[in-house]
Amino acid sequence: MNPLNHVAIIMDGNGRWGLKYKNSRNSGHKAGLNVVEKIIKETIKHKIKFLTLYAFSTENWKRPKKEINYLFNLLETFLTNKIDELNKQNIKLKIIGVKKFTYKLNKLLDLSEKKTYQNKKLQINLALNYGSKFELMNAFKNLCKKKEKFNEKNLYKYFQTKNIPDPDLLIRTGNTKRLSNFLLWQLAYSEIYFEKKLWPDFNEKDYNKILKNYKKIKRNFGNI
Ligand code: IPE
Ligand code: IPE
Ligand code: MG
Repeated sequence: MNPLNHVAIIMDGNGRWGLKYKNSRNSGHKAGLNVVEKIIKETIKHKIKFLTLYAFSTENWKRPKKEINYLFNLLETFLTNKIDELNKQNIKLKIIGVKKFTYKLNKLLDLSEKKTYQNKKLQINLALNYGSKFELMNAFKNLCKKKEKFNEKNLYKYFQTKNIPDPDLLIRTGNTKRLSNFLLWQLAYSEIYFEKKLWPDFNEKDYNKILKNYKKIKRNFGNI
């Protein structure tokens, strides 16, 4: 059975779900947040140590302001209401991406990270304003600037995912088969599962099925 330390998820399909059922993309984002909570609980049940959630990419700034504002308000409300509960559950929150939001949200994110820093049960990496190409360029630039030896170990020091093992498994919901600038380096040897369901329709049962299948895969890493 394959060890499973880190699951990464591209939570895609909120907008389509919202349009289909409520005639508004934003209601899809709201519904998607409930699924996030369910999947966190299930991840803990499986004793998985790292869960990385792609919530907002560097490319998502192209969206209408109204949608962007809605998304960040949703996040702000969620963290304000739930950070103590997450903390009690021994969950550590880490933001990956560049924190360039409103002053209020930046502060809330910093505070949430600080509050949960010592927690050990599960580390949630929330990818916000995250772009893998930027992360890579930045890491290479730092390596050059500091004149450090050009090797993988030194490169990882400058990744936002520093000290986080590479994902064992990537799940993308929403019936789209692409990476959308997510963890391009870190996913080099991850198992990838593309799920047809839209994120708000995804549930524990779907998740469990994917985890069960993952355990049976023969991971070769180039070997036979
Ligand atoms: C993913 O769902 C969530 C974010 C990017 C914030 P989308 O909003 O991309 O949903 P679709 O793909 O348009 O349905
Ligand atoms: C990827 O989804 C980003 C997140 C889920 C946060 P997108 O919906 O933005 O990806 P593209 O633009 O369809 O590739
Ligand atoms: Mg999408």
